[in-house]
Amino acid sequence: MHSLKNKIVFITGASSGIGASCAVQFARQGAKLLLAARRMERLDAFADGLRKKFSVDIHTIHLDVRKRSEVESTMDTLPSGWKKISVLVNNAGLASGMATIQDGDVDDWEKMIDTNVKGLLYVSRAVIPGMIQRGEGHVINIGSIAGYEFYPKGNVYCATKAAVNALTNTMRLDLNGTPIRVSTIDPGLVETEFSIVRFHGDKERANKTYEGITPLTPDDIADAVLYCATRSPHVNIQQVVLTPTAQASTTIVHRVQTSQK
Ligand SMILES: NC(=O)c1ccc[n+]([C@@H]2O[C@H](COP(=O)([O-])OP(=O)(O)OC[C@H]3O[C@@H](n4cnc5c(N)ncnc54)[C@H](OP(=O)(O)O)[C@@H]3O)[C@@H](O)[C@H]2O)c1
Repeated sequence: MHSLKNKIVFITGASSGIGASCAVQFARQGAKLLLAARRMERLDAFADGLRKKFSVDIHTIHLDVRKRSEVESTMDTLPSGWKKISVLVNNAGLASGMATIQDGDVDDWEKMIDTNVKGLLYVSRAVIPGMIQRGEGHVINIGSIAGYEFYPKGNVYCATKAAVNALTNTMRLDLNGTPIRVSTIDPGLVETEFSIVRFHGDKERANKTYEGITPLTPDDIADAVLYCATRSPHVNIQQVVLTPTAQASTTIVHRVQTSQK
């Protein structure tokens, strides 16, 4: 197993869900954690808990990945001990709304494109040159099965994750000949705050997403991320696709009525 002890792991969107679970997994390995999100109070409280539990070094940063200049200046002005990033987990992302193309809210579309595509690009552009220079690095993108299994009313979210899929594959082409590895983890239904965000805070509607199934947990995804990151440097796990057992595809999900469960 490739050791991550004292390696710097940078996770975007570490304040909840998959990003937070990844932070726990990497903390367990003794990695140094660079954690980013917008909700700083929450991120700092989470980081304090990790420091106490795992005695690891953590640096938290406020980062709205949609803001190009904020990403550039924050990454440029990282404290000297935090610049040599070994693993980048491009996790910050969201779905916003679920409507037909004819009824969709353009603000929702922009939010998804700016976060899932442009944000991932800004962060990657800031981090990858240093990895090349140091001859070490691993970019792990959190994609989705929605990037190639499209579903009704998923239009723009699916398109952004299709873009992530294309970017993962083209990053690997561009970085061929360097030691930098590029992986994507593509989950199906994971129970996080994802659906609450998608449905603009409507928890009842969000809960329906996971009704009658045992969804994946953020820890299931973090397991896969860690697996990729801990292979020997000559092994690149290109893609991991995970779904709940009850989910055959984005549109085929076997749900058991609560009374039958
Ligand atoms: N849950 C699923 O079923 C599922 C399935 C496939 C793929 N995914 C992908 O998994 C990733 C993580 O989602 P999740 O399920 O863990 O949802 P989540 O619990 O809502 O977490 C999303 C994280 O992204 C951060 N974030 C959102 N917008 C951001 C921005 N503009 N700048 C910086 N950080 C931002 C949030 O932090 P702040 O709000 O504090 O900034 C939060 O930490 C996303 O890329 C999502 O598309 C999720």
